[in-house]
Amino acid sequence: MNKKIFALLSVLMIASLALAACGGGAKKVEVFSWWTGGGEAAGLDAMIKIFNAKYPSVEFINAAVAGGAGTNARAVLATRLQAGDPPDSWQGHAGQELIGTYVAGKQIQPLNDLYEAEGWLDVMPETLIPLISQDGNIYSVPVNIHRANVMWYNPKVLADNGVAVPTTMDEWLAAMDTLKAAGVTPLALGEQWTKLHLMETVLLGSLGADKYNGLWDGSTDWGSAEVTAALENYAKVLTYTNSDSTSLSWQDAAQLVINGDAAFNVMGDWAAGYFIELGKTAMTDYGWAPVPGTVGVFQFLSDSFVLAVGAPNEEAAMDWLKVAGSKEGQEAFNPVKGSICARTDCDKSLFGEYLQSAMDDWSSNVVVGSLTHGVVANDSWKSEIDTALGLFIQDGDLAKFQAALVAACAASGPCK
Ligand code: GAL
Repeated sequence: MNKKIFALLSVLMIASLALAACGGGAKKVEVFSWWTGGGEAAGLDAMIKIFNAKYPSVEFINAAVAGGAGTNARAVLATRLQAGDPPDSWQGHAGQELIGTYVAGKQIQPLNDLYEAEGWLDVMPETLIPLISQDGNIYSVPVNIHRANVMWYNPKVLADNGVAVPTTMDEWLAAMDTLKAAGVTPLALGEQWTKLHLMETVLLGSLGADKYNGLWDGSTDWGSAEVTAALENYAKVLTYTNSDSTSLSWQDAAQLVINGDAAFNVMGDWAAGYFIELGKTAMTDYGWAPVPGTVGVFQFLSDSFVLAVGAPNEEAAMDWLKVAGSKEGQEAFNPVKGSICARTDCDKSLFGEYLQSAMDDWSSNVVVGSLTHGVVANDSWKSEIDTALGLFIQDGDLAKFQAALVAACAASGPCK
């Protein structure tokens, strides 16, 4: 070979190696979530598998940050957004979290054309669209519907102690008295956000659906005697919990029930995904019922994915969103994740016993939204409530707590 051609070829080879090394031209997409374990990662993996099969030339970067309910992940995301370094797509809850934060901050793009092209307006529930829309623009792709107000229980622990599954607040408190007297931990609880989660379900169980909804639209007075009574129920319920809750994740707390170390745990139905992952059997290893006082009410939340303004890989992000909204993607994801499809056309037979019952309830119950998981309150209101709760957990001063909740509604909610 002529020396000149050899030199030229060498230069070209070095240049192409250098290009490959720094990833130039390679297609990728970065997707941000908090699904790193306990059934959640497995659900996401199932959807990634479909993405990889459909788009083999695109590298999927799974930028998940550990921590239930996104407490850590959302802080990391906020820092990245502030620094102008958004992931292409991230997990956000339908409702006020999406509208009050990302849409208000002009951080995400409308997806109306995608909805049109994919025919999603015909298959996504009508009730969900307003919760992901503003001024006629649709801003996210919901992948699921989760239920927050689920009380998981250990059937053997209840049977051994002669306790029937409680359906009312009074029955629940009585059952927990019996269990406590028998030396059983009545209610498993975890870190702070799980306490907020428990609180919203007890508020719902004590106030009923209409008054609970009123907390979020200003028609229920946070300072009223009925809210005092609901908070008293909550304070009472807390007395039946394990003393090491602060150091337990939601999976740790759920595990106490599965292991027979506690009778009940209030947690969203991602716990069903965790139990499936642990190889547990429905109605033998674990049972479920609506949180006492909430029979006939489905307290929902929905995980959805967005498209960043300034997404570095917009085309691949759209491919990801297509998978997230597809029947195939949702049928792979949800039975593992422990949620039901956001889409209305998924095949019911793919889902286990718990999720089939959740589908029936979702279509027949009164539907209300979750606080902890972004539906009913914007981020600032939610964090004021959470701060007040943290203080209450420390000092137990219920009057002060209620006053702080009244102030939070006036500062960031509709109680102006
Ligand atoms: C919720 C989320 C669920 C699940 C849960 C626990 O906020 O919507 O999908 O991830 O947190 O981490």
